[in-house]
Amino acid sequence: MPDIFSTTETPYAEGKILKHAADGVGVITFNNPDKRNAMSLEMWEGFGEALTSLRDDEAVRVVILRGAGGKAFVSGADISQFEKTRHNAAASEEYAKRSAAQRALLADYPKPTIACIQGFCLGGGMQVAMLADIRIASHDSQFGIPAARLGIAYGFDGLRHLVSLVGPSWARLLMYTGMRIDSAEALRIGLVERVFPEDQLWGETMAIAETISQNAPLAIKAAKITIAQVLKDESARDMGAIKAIGNACMDSADFREGRQAFMEKRRPQFQGR
Ligand code: COA
Repeated sequence: MPDIFSTTETPYAEGKILKHAADGVGVITFNNPDKRNAMSLEMWEGFGEALTSLRDDEAVRVVILRGAGGKAFVSGADISQFEKTRHNAAASEEYAKRSAAQRALLADYPKPTIACIQGFCLGGGMQVAMLADIRIASHDSQFGIPAARLGIAYGFDGLRHLVSLVGPSWARLLMYTGMRIDSAEALRIGLVERVFPEDQLWGETMAIAETISQNAPLAIKAAKITIAQVLKDESARDMGAIKAIGNACMDSADFREGRQAFMEKRRPQFQGR
């Protein structure tokens, strides 16, 4: 993964989380390569702060999540903290609460998110990747949830996403064995959407992000909201939210701009309203 932003990144969690924004694309980097980007609680909290800042930055239209060092996206929770912070049910609940608040931010993120995965994507790293809207990986990546090797119960949200992506049988095989699969298998079972050679991964991910950032933000938001509702049980669906964003789109200046630009054979300039 290129170290292209090193002078313009904002650090969180003592630099173990980095944030960058330019040309409508926000990037959050998990930056603890010595530990294969294992997530400490401080990193979870820094991740939440970076997500919030990019969420509130009106110029940012899409957010990419990536790992530093070329060897891992995120290798899961930092196991070295478990003895202190996650040694029994009560401690684990407190731990889960602190990290769950940040995951909830990502789960309900109002902008499109892309996980750009190079190397190991394990345990809690899989959860982050699965919470992103889209997963793009390099050929040399490895995926797995080794909860059964550690004696950990993987939570409802993580498994809900796993089952919705790969189906219950693959979810069981992955969870019961704790096995790791490579990118080709991950692609085949629907865990990732696209796979590229390592040296093309970042360029291809940026190309998708740039395309998204140039499209109409409200139309993308409508797709995001509606797909999230499709995945809910019928009784829990908020059809009102779908209607509201649909109306916002159809009444928007961007829809007018989209129509005009098409007729005038030019590229549309969308404002998000
Ligand atoms: N938590 C804490 N430390 C971790 C870690 C994690 N999840 N993953 C890797 N590290 C540390 C290793 O302890 C090692 O530290 P050291 O240099 O002080 O010995 C360093 O990162 C490099 O890891 P290493 O195992 O030597 O590298 P590798 O490239 O051979 O293997 C992994 C990488 C990710 C496959 C392997 O480290 C691993 O299996 N990690 C645990 C993954 C896991 O169980 N995640 C789920 C947690 S819920």
